Amino acid sequence: MNFKEQFGNFAKDFNARLDGFLKSLDGCEPKILSDSLKYSLEIGGKRIRPVLIYAAADLIGVPREKVEGFALALELVHTYSLIHDDLPEMDNDDFRRGKPSNHKVFGAGNAVLAGDGLLNTAYSLLFKECAKGAEYVSAASFLCDCAGIYGMIAGQSADLLHERDENCTEEELFFIYENKTGKLLTAPLAVPAILAGGRYLEEFKKLGHHLGCLFQITDDILDVEGDFSILGKTTGKDDSEGKSTAISVFGLNKAKSMADSFLEKCLDILDGFEGDARFLKELVRYVRTRRD
Ligand code: IPE
Ligand code: IPE
Ligand code: MG
Ligand code: MG
Ligand code: MG
Repeated sequence: MNFKEQFGNFAKDFNARLDGFLKSLDGCEPKILSDSLKYSLEIGGKRIRPVLIYAAADLIGVPREKVEGFALALELVHTYSLIHDDLPEMDNDDFRRGKPSNHKVFGAGNAVLAGDGLLNTAYSLLFKECAKGAEYVSAASFLCDCAGIYGMIAGQSADLLHERDENCTEEELFFIYENKTGKLLTAPLAVPAILAGGRYLEEFKKLGHHLGCLFQITDDILDVEGDFSILGKTTGKDDSEGKSTAISVFGLNKAKSMADSFLEKCLDILDGFEGDARFLKELVRYVRTRRD
């Protein structure tokens, strides 16, 4: 099986699980609330975070059923972060996942509530996982920290702080990357490791950090060089909103060579695993070369 097929299979497994969750929203009223929640989850997304959880679990021998609830909770948190990120008061983006952003369809107030709803539901799912044992509590707590004020929220706050800041330093930029992007890419790697009693946790945390930097640099590059029809979001927005990005701080060429060196660091870490890390190696290479 090649990388694309394998990625597709992981994503298909996750989407089947997500479908069950989407059906459960039928009883959620008023209808505009369930419609807005379903909208952002159904319009697409690469599902990289769930695929990472499944692949990391396979690599270290954690059974799929132990991580499925975490994968769903994480994708809900990620999707909420995108809905809020697109709001006019944040990045003011009209398109997401190839479709009009949540607030363009349902209005800003409903988009705030859809994000809040996804986050609360994620926590409620995690509480159910916690009933299964102490290692589930540790894994859930790690995921919540990644999403919270010492994680993604801190990164998003710093991202806003450094909007139209021509003097944003390398250190400030990497604080933004590590938190807004790196933490939600570390969680899917760390969760299986925690469920396995901490085996490979340090390696996965390091991998998540480097992958986060790689992922965000390529996201910034795609904002300059990407194609809307493949990317599913408007390009040129970072520049027009005066965002501090790898391009604004280092220039396009240096940003690309930095992405290459983060890719090498990811591959080096994956070389240190005993199991078959070929899929994860292909995945980090894909993060560097992706167009979507
Ligand atoms: C977008 O993440 C937000 C960033 C961290 C750059 P993805 O590129 O994974 O978004 P989807 O889930 O595929 O839409
Ligand atoms: C990542 O940064 C956003 C989140 C953590 C939600 P961006 O603002 O660059 O992501 P895109 O480009 O809108 O997907
Ligand atoms: Mg943003
Ligand atoms: Mg954005
Ligand atoms: Mg971006």
